[in-house]
Amino acid sequence: MSTDASGRVLVAVDGPSGSGKSSVSRSAAQQLGFDYLDTGSAYRSLAWFALEQGIDMHEAGDVIDLLEDFELRLALDPFDREVFVGEANVTEAIRGTRVSAAVSSVARIAGVREWLNDRFRLLMTHGDHDNPRPGIITEGRDITTIVAPHAQVRVLLTASDEVRQARRALELGEARDNVSAIVTERDAQDMRVVDFMNAAEGVTVLDSTELSFEETVAALVSMVRAATSSR
Ligand code: DC
Repeated sequence: MSTDASGRVLVAVDGPSGSGKSSVSRSAAQQLGFDYLDTGSAYRSLAWFALEQGIDMHEAGDVIDLLEDFELRLALDPFDREVFVGEANVTEAIRGTRVSAAVSSVARIAGVREWLNDRFRLLMTHGDHDNPRPGIITEGRDITTIVAPHAQVRVLLTASDEVRQARRALELGEARDNVSAIVTERDAQDMRVVDFMNAAEGVTVLDSTELSFEETVAALVSMVRAATSSR
């Protein structure tokens, strides 16, 4: 298997909400024995922390000041879903509507993105010292373009609007009509920051509209295997 300078296989996956990128990336990492990094949960954890501290998220300087005290602990083990901020287990809270409504506000602050991107790059390079794995799948919105444009495998995971809204509704246990406005609005806000709907040069589009979950995972796993065995 070919690796980057750090000796690890880097896989970058981007996509809009409801594309299934988190569950697909996690499952592919489990099958490959790779680390898994969900960058969206880092943005969500920071939004949780800002809400907790009563920070006005429209004040970029206040959010940036908060980073000094932001102790994020994200497991890279794809079987471990727990996320901590300091001693607080925020695994459930960061998926709630309160955080979902606030997260775009912190994600649009350039200083926040640079700070988090540095953390992501360190995690991608070094992984988990106690449990080294041969590679890492990192997913988000700007991984193929900004965070790791040098990754050996770069994938944009997409699905039709209808399918994405239906998947989000199923995930949240809500009617599709209730979810579609929220998904569309959040995507529109996030799209102002990074373009995750169009593949950058060298990025492979994996369209899951017609694929089952297992088929999508299998497609990603075989892309990783093909790319890493052919060099
Ligand atoms: O993938 P998600 O829904 O958990 O992402 C949460 C938010 O974080 C979403 O509003 C987009 C933002 N995000 C981002 O701007 N860049 C990333 N690399 C990952 C997430």
